[in-house]
Formats: sequence, C-alpha cells, structure tokens
Amino acid sequence: MVRDPTVLWHPIASVGDVPPRHVFHGQLLGRELAVWRADDGYINVWENRCLHRGLRLSIGVNNGHELMCQYHGWRYANRTAQCTYIPAHPADAPARTIFNRTFPAAERYGLVWSGEAPSGPPPEVGVLDAGSAMVLRSLPVDAPPGLVAEHLGRYRFCPNDRLDAEEPEVTADGHDDWSVLLTASAGGSSTTAAFFVQPVDSNRSVIRGVLSGSGEAADRLTVLRHHSTLLSNLRDRIEAYAATTPPPEPMEVKLHQVSEQLARVPVASVGRHAPLRVRVSRKWKTAEGVAGFELESIGEQLPSHQPGAHIDVHLPNGLVRQYSITNGPGEGTAYRIGVKREPNSRGGSECLHESVREGDVLAISEPRNNFPLRRDSVRTILLAGGIGITPLLAMAQTLRKDDLDFRLHCFAQSPAHLAFPELLKELGSSVTTHLGLTPEATVTRLRELVGRYETASHLYVCGPGPMLGAARRVATECGWPDDAIHFEYFRNDNEVDNSSSFEISLSRSALTLPVPAGKSVLEVLRANAIPVPSSCEQGACGTCGVTVLEGEPVHQDVYLNDSEKLAGDRIMTCVSRSRTDRLVLDI
Ligand code: FES
Repeated sequence: MVRDPTVLWHPIASVGDVPPRHVFHGQLLGRELAVWRADDGYINVWENRCLHRGLRLSIGVNNGHELMCQYHGWRYANRTAQCTYIPAHPADAPARTIFNRTFPAAERYGLVWSGEAPSGPPPEVGVLDAGSAMVLRSLPVDAPPGLVAEHLGRYRFCPNDRLDAEEPEVTADGHDDWSVLLTASAGGSSTTAAFFVQPVDSNRSVIRGVLSGSGEAADRLTVLRHHSTLLSNLRDRIEAYAATTPPPEPMEVKLHQVSEQLARVPVASVGRHAPLRVRVSRKWKTAEGVAGFELESIGEQLPSHQPGAHIDVHLPNGLVRQYSITNGPGEGTAYRIGVKREPNSRGGSECLHESVREGDVLAISEPRNNFPLRRDSVRTILLAGGIGITPLLAMAQTLRKDDLDFRLHCFAQSPAHLAFPELLKELGSSVTTHLGLTPEATVTRLRELVGRYETASHLYVCGPGPMLGAARRVATECGWPDDAIHFEYFRNDNEVDNSSSFEISLSRSALTLPVPAGKSVLEVLRANAIPVPSSCEQGACGTCGVTVLEGEPVHQDVYLNDSEKLAGDRIMTCVSRSRTDRLVLDI
C-alpha cells in the first residue's frame, strides 16, 4: 500500500542549492517552496508567495536574517516567517498575525529534507552515516514518483573504484515507494547508492542519489559522470514508458485558510496574559548594577520580534515588568534582555537580580512593539541614557545589517555602566559614548548631537525621564517635528489623578458604561469582558491605546507626543480620563 506522502520527509534540494544569501525554488507535492539559509545556519522552507500580492518569494532577497519580497519590499523574519516590515507603512509595526506558512526542514546526507507534516526524523541509511557521502546531480523526470522508484530498483552501476567493471553485481538492500537502496560489487569493491524520489507533483519527480564512502573515490568527477550518463538513460526509458500510460490524477494542494494560520498565534492580545514559557539559559552581569538574561524557548519557536519591541515578564513574586528585547534581526532562539537593579525597586528588578537563576522557567508575553523603527530614514540618531540602551541596541543592529546610516550615542556614568559592551563593540564606529556628564553638560551635548532638523531624519530616545524630556525639548527647539521624534519611557512618573467620573460609550459594542472615581477605563472595560490588550498599565508603553470618536480626553500618559495629545483622538485607557461627561470610544 502506498504510504501517505504528506506524513513523510522528502528531499527538496541538495545542501549546495542553498548557499548563504540565496533563495532556492523548491517543489514538493504540487506546492512551490522558497528555501533559504539564514546567517545563523537555519534553513527556512516557506510557502513560495508573499502575503501581500502573492509574488514568488524565491525571487526575493535573502539578506541573511530576513527574506524581502522584490515587489513591494515586505520583509519576513528568519525561522518564524513573521512579517517584520512593510515599506508602505514605515512608521508602524506590522501586526504579529501577518506571517507566511513554514514547513519543517532538516539536513541529512547532503540533502535538504522537508514535508507537509512529517513524523519522526528524516530517513536513516546506516551505510551513508559511515563515511563521507557523495551527492549525485539531481535529475528531474517527467513521470509519477512511484513509477520512478520502480525503475530505480532495476538501476545497474559500477562500484566507485571499479568503474570499468563489465558485469558488476547489483543487489537491492531496500525498496519502497519513495526510495531505493542498491549495492554494486565487483572485484572485491562495493559501493552503496541510496536513491530518494522527490515527488514534485503527481506526474513529475526528481531523482536524488547519494553514494556511500565516496570520499575515497579517486576521481569524483568520473564517478559523477558515470552516474549522470546511466541515470540520464534511465530517465529517458522511464519517460518513454510513462508517455504510454494514462497520466495520474493531479495532486490536490491544500492551501491554508487565513483563519487556520491565525490559530497558530497565541491568544494573548487581551489583558496581560503570558502565553510563552521560557527558560533562563544565561544570566550574567553586563554592567554595573545591570544583569543580562537570555530567555530560551521551551518547545515552541519564539515569535519574531521587531526592533524596539518589548515583552512582559511575569515574575515569581507575581509582579509583571516590561523589558525591551536587545536581539538583532534574525536572532530567534532566545530573547536577550537587560535589567537594571533600581535603588528603589518595588520588587521587579530586585526579584530578577536576587531570586531568578539560570534554569528557572518564566512566563512571558509575546513581543509587542510600540516603539517601531522606520527604515526609510536618511539619517537616524539613537540617544540612549543608561539602561535605555536596550531597545536602541536592537534598532542599531537592524540598521547596521541593512546598511542604513545611523549614529548611536550612549550616555552613562562610566565605562563600567555601559550595558552589553560586546554588542556595542560589534557596532564599531557608529557608537559614541558620553560618560560622566552632569545634567547641564548632558543638555549641552544633546544640543550638539541633535542639531537642526533635516528632511527624512528620525530621532529615537530612550532613557531616564529627565534625560528623555531634555532630548525632546532640545529636538523641538532645533525644529524637529513631533513625528520625527520617537521616544520610550521606562515608566510614567506623573501622578495619575483618577478622581473624576464620566461615561464611556463603546461605538462597536453598543454599550454605555460608567467610569467611577478610583477606577480606570481599562478596569471598567475588563470588568465588562471587553478585550483590550495592556502591558505596563501605567501609561508608558502604549499597548492599551484606543481611538476616541467623541469627547475630550484628559491625557495622563507619557506615551503620546504633544501633537497626538492635542489631536485628542486616542487615549491610553490605563491612565487617561475624560474632561467631558462622555467619551465615545471605537471599541
Ligand atoms: Fe501601557 Fe496602558 S498598558 S500605556
């Protein structure tokens, strides 16, 4: 009985077909695949279409950490195929629900293997494990895979070092619908050949052969030529025979519905849920008072992050804290964060420094990005104060890998206070440090660094409140428009006044709810089972923002800039309130 090909591993390429920075066009079971190797060695096997206009990704650009579609420049991340950038919306972070379909990949015997839903590991052939195997030239055949495997069972060839043998003995060591194992012997020499039939579709195949112990073959080119001639003759015979038989039914390719894709996305968009489990694989002192943590996935692949993204970390003491991901693009096996021990810690940084150890398991949220990086800027200035370096490190690494112009300025007390020095070193001359400056000297230095605004320049600032406020003020004085100044506060130091009471009307839910004094809009929404995501719950991260359709908000957050607050069409529901009796929200 023919085994279901969708649950098997099949070869789709030879390892030589996927060199760095290349994209290979694969075909399997009627489906087209984009196959590419990232700089970290990971082989990606994806559905060969861009989610935007369906262009083939196999003609896209592999930059070592992302695959970029040639048509409109959408980019997809190594490992997860999540969309990381949409050039038509340079100021926005793409939704995490935009990702391409991925397939499993493995390398064995010089071949790349994949499948729809293969179970277990790829086929094992003991004799190929023993010595250095030689991969034969792949040979496309216009015939059904089963027919090709049947004819391969009658393939006759000579051992590698007896290519002149007249009557080699060939024995079949194994044979099924998708592979054939043959050993040729003559004059005391023997060579085993494993042939795997790649089912391109119901009527097309590719023969992929691997020879055992061919590392010792005196003349590899002669061996390759020997098999090339014999297999070409075999292909002609198979195709001639196939032409006399009725063609099989076409294979039905199962294209996944968007809803099936979305089922893969963790249900975490509501509240402060933590759907991911990670293990602390490394904890180290990265600077004076700053601990670095590497959080590796347990089981599932970690979702891709965009530069500027943060995660919520749920601590053993019940607190939830936000930390920026410092990883560069394409680094997907573990998130790296930095935690500064706050002198007046309310329990978050103290717990991570004192209690959390290597090997501990933590619950975290999926990455959220409310501090996205534009990649269409002609000049990017990154200003980091102390531990504010963390999101800017991810940005700097992305800009560097994309060959975009940027400067990263790090303000710190001393060299010992510079977190992640090894990453700063890798960024080379794009980094300038400013050490031990007084607050006044910092403002003077900021004025020199920021300079007059030039068209298509962007400024990103992250650091302690006073430094961040000074940078924003200086930039505004130097003529920088609000939409070119991007900032992220660690926390909201403003005193939040929640003494007012008002009503919220929810336009899409047809509900009107009272917001009493002492309760936030977010709390009222949550109590009425209206799903709104949140993260910091203190008006600093922007996660809980909703659109205001009517009414005048009282902004108490530090996330929106002055123009956005003036526009009054968006509020952070965790802290902001209403000046009017009623706010109409687009929920
Ligand atoms: Fe962070 Fe409201 S949850 S701003």
